[in-house]
Amino acid sequence: MHERIYRKDYQASEFLVDSVDLVFELDPAETVVKAKMQLRRNPDGPARGGPLRLHGDELELRSVRLNGTRLDVSQFEADSQSLAIADVPERFQLETEVLIHPAQNTKLMGLYTSSGTFCTQCEAEGFRRITYYLDRPDVMARFTTRIEADRSSYPILLSNGNRVARGDLPNGRHWVQWEDPFRKPSYLFALVAGDLACHEGTFTTSSGREVALEIWVEPANADKCGHALASLKAAMKWDEDRYGLEYDLDIYMIVAVDDFNMGAMENKGLNIFNSKYVLAKPSTATDDDYEGIEGVVAHEYFHNWTGNRVTCRDWFQLTLKEGLTVFRDQEFSADMTSREVQRIKDVTRLRTAQFAEDAGPLAHPIRPESYIEMNNFYTSTVYEKGAEVVRLYQTLLGRDGFRKGLRHYLETHDARAVTCDDFREAMAEANDADLTQLERWYSQAGTPIVHANGVWHESAGAYTLTLSQSQRAMPKETEPRPLTIPICVGLLGANGKDIPGTVRTLELNEPEQTFTFENLPERPILSIGRGFSAPIKLEMKRSHEELAFLMAHDSDPFNRWEAGQELAKRILLGLVARVLEKRPLELDEGLVSAFRKVLSDPSLDGSIKALTLALPSEELLSQELSLVDPDAVHRARGFVIRELGLALRAEWMRTYEQHARGADAIDKAQIGRRRIKNRALRYLVALEAPDTIALAVEQFGAATGMTEYEAAFVSLVDLDSAETDRAIAEFYERWRGEPLVLDKWFRIQAMSGSPLAFDRVVALSKHPDFNLANPNRARSLLYCFAAGNPVAFHRADGRAYRFIADQVVELDAINPQVASRIVSSFNQWKRYEPGRSGLMKAELERIARWPGISKDVSEIVERALER
Ligand code: PHE
Ligand code: ZN
Repeated sequence: MHERIYRKDYQASEFLVDSVDLVFELDPAETVVKAKMQLRRNPDGPARGGPLRLHGDELELRSVRLNGTRLDVSQFEADSQSLAIADVPERFQLETEVLIHPAQNTKLMGLYTSSGTFCTQCEAEGFRRITYYLDRPDVMARFTTRIEADRSSYPILLSNGNRVARGDLPNGRHWVQWEDPFRKPSYLFALVAGDLACHEGTFTTSSGREVALEIWVEPANADKCGHALASLKAAMKWDEDRYGLEYDLDIYMIVAVDDFNMGAMENKGLNIFNSKYVLAKPSTATDDDYEGIEGVVAHEYFHNWTGNRVTCRDWFQLTLKEGLTVFRDQEFSADMTSREVQRIKDVTRLRTAQFAEDAGPLAHPIRPESYIEMNNFYTSTVYEKGAEVVRLYQTLLGRDGFRKGLRHYLETHDARAVTCDDFREAMAEANDADLTQLERWYSQAGTPIVHANGVWHESAGAYTLTLSQSQRAMPKETEPRPLTIPICVGLLGANGKDIPGTVRTLELNEPEQTFTFENLPERPILSIGRGFSAPIKLEMKRSHEELAFLMAHDSDPFNRWEAGQELAKRILLGLVARVLEKRPLELDEGLVSAFRKVLSDPSLDGSIKALTLALPSEELLSQELSLVDPDAVHRARGFVIRELGLALRAEWMRTYEQHARGADAIDKAQIGRRRIKNRALRYLVALEAPDTIALAVEQFGAATGMTEYEAAFVSLVDLDSAETDRAIAEFYERWRGEPLVLDKWFRIQAMSGSPLAFDRVVALSKHPDFNLANPNRARSLLYCFAAGNPVAFHRADGRAYRFIADQVVELDAINPQVASRIVSSFNQWKRYEPGRSGLMKAELERIARWPGISKDVSEIVERALER
């Protein structure tokens, strides 16, 4: 039905575009777009002499001129999807004029309006919704943009590059002309027009050039830009220090809009951002929001080199820019905040979303082989697993080797559109290393499993470690071949310290290899996969005592946390089994004492402590089960939370009180204080005792910063008490005017562990402030419910499945990209017990049959239903 595109079918473009001059006559209802393009046949292209075929999408063509002469309808073929001209010379000028309707553009791809501001989104294939074009990343052209608009409604007119001229027009209109000196693919084009306020700054580059920094927002938000600006400056500095990369234009602009399908977009010189990743002040944004902003601002900035200067040849190569840029932003955030906290966050995100994707029907390699709708491949596999694969290069080559390789890659391929192979070859060349086996990480899907078996040879004083690897065989694909897997290890002695000479990076290249450690003074304890050195699942027999020992002593902070999570996971899974067998539950004393030790350890900072004292989520636990019963998982986990609350009540209380008061400042000490305080609060409120509930009520009433306010609200919404309804009402009254804060109100109710969560979500979907057309709002309520509230979404009567499916179908007619994200919550249907799995399948089938369903949603649903 819909066409499937294959990586193996790639062909260079028959035509190239040298330059594009665009004129926009802006009007929300009907905008005229004129394009004047200089084209020529591609000397390196395939078969010569074919017609020119330009991409389009929902365009109304008004006229076409070839070398100045207007073509009549017999000389071209046009519909809303394409424009074809059979007879064109070697080199020519093409002028087109089209009409588009920005205010009706609810897909938010191409040119659209958001709260009255014009903005664009062109990646991946949105430029064709603006004008007919060779809308593919390997066609790079020089762009100029003239914007004409009503002066009073749209005083600010922005596009890529430098502003070169401006002037007035009759009828209260004006114009501005922009020129981008860098050749670029169309997906990096951007335009903004509106009544915006500017938060300004400057940055002086290492070579002494001064760059103007401009953050453009609605005037009411002018007081929420400081953190985004500071993050931008820090990112610019970091890229100079770490990689010697300088910014290349004299101006860098960021615009925040309320309606945006993704996080943000790296358009050359003019980033467009979801306002969620720009706007923050302590009273409206949490510590996690602040970190999110810092990471995303940096990510888009880093794209200027890894993405824009060197871009992708085709969309199958997406991870070339995304995996690499995510790796760069992770490293940046690690340097800005705390390396271990950042690593734990990144690995948790990878395991929660990417491991699930890799285990489900949508599993694909980081460089996919085919797609129907490219927008469906902006996945955690391409982004997060892609970043882990980039990290492998650094682990294998060292930081300096990686830097050398990255610089070599950027130098050899500057201003070109290249492939993942080009990246790997540049890395190998710069380091004189053989990296051919790494190619398999790009072509094989699924999470590799590494099985580890250690043997102590007392008499020889030797320890042998046998590692073997295996991978899920994908249907229709060739047998998986062994990967290069770096495994960082260390051996601990009984004193808890690394035994000298045992800290190594083992390189597993074969299906099975044995590594030997000799001359050991004592029986060691293995710490394996330090820093999460590869995106694999580890299987190894280990006792609870060994895990508790590692949790207390491992010199690698990531593995200390990991040992605690592994211990908790094993205990929780044991309890899930007991729930299913209807046997009484009992909490392992080992977990209580391990938690007590962490809680009273003065050497740990608050953030790490809070992360160590968090239990693995219901989603992560469910991944370990062959047939998921979400109620059993929820009960087991709830039981452990309450038991830990009870057993350590005095310690939690002391921790809470010790950290209760402080400043709202967003710095490492205060963030750590708030994290451990709020972790204690969660355990205390879970006891549902009047005095612990009172703590949350008190915190909710007194908090002046959003982190503490939100945490108290989360705790209260999990309960079913009079305090809950009061808090919900108060929150709304206080924040109804702040869309980003109101999103939290929707999200927290959607994710609540209360049995009332589903009924609340249904009611909220009819709330006057709910708006399916606004992606942030739709995601806050629907996605967060379907993907983040397993026990409520998977209620056994299937009503939540039906509700979400109904919403998906309704949303699909408005914005298929967002609808297809939400429908992915049904992907794992085969993993649930038969009752639920049948109900989920029925909803998938109903969606699949729905008349007029988009190709975005149908691709996901069809894949989920295959076989
Ligand atoms: N390229 C953007 C990023 O990761 C993401 C994005 C993709 C935004 C598609 C919009 C549309 O930085
Ligand atoms: Zn990106």
